[in-house]
Amino acid sequence: ATQRTLSIIKPDAVAKNVIGEIYTRFEKAGLQVIASKMVHLSKEQAEGFYAEHSERGFFGELVGFMTSGPVMIQALEGEEAIAKNRDLMGATNPKEAAAGTIRADFATSIDANAVHGSDAPAAAEREIAYFFGENEICPRG
Ligand code: CMP
Repeated sequence: ATQRTLSIIKPDAVAKNVIGEIYTRFEKAGLQVIASKMVHLSKEQAEGFYAEHSERGFFGELVGFMTSGPVMIQALEGEEAIAKNRDLMGATNPKEAAAGTIRADFATSIDANAVHGSDAPAAAEREIAYFFGENEICPRG
């Protein structure tokens, strides 16, 4: 089925100037960018986005990293978009990411891991609505 997913190109990958290379991977996999914006997240924005991780030991580092520089945020649409994007990204820890995935090619650590992608339909819906209003989403059908 056609799905939407929320993708974030994290500060490390923006700093490496590989936004375009990552967008090309989405497009070649049949995912369409239907919304996008570049943002330097505030602490409050990052904490709210990652609220489900607030009790985890890595939360402070996660928020610190995600606010360390601008991120590129996009909604992607396509057939099985959530799983497809997760396949493109590879494992959360780049040391475990399969060859040819975004994280294997561009990430350096579990925090500086280049990209975020929604892990399930309910998360995708919440995460897209967290950053985009309906009038900022432009599906091409
Ligand atoms: P992301 O998909 O953005 O979701 C939460 C992020 O927390 C994750 O990618 C990692 O960058 C980061 N993180 C840091 N340490 C861990 C950990 N031990 N397990 C999972 N995620 C971690």
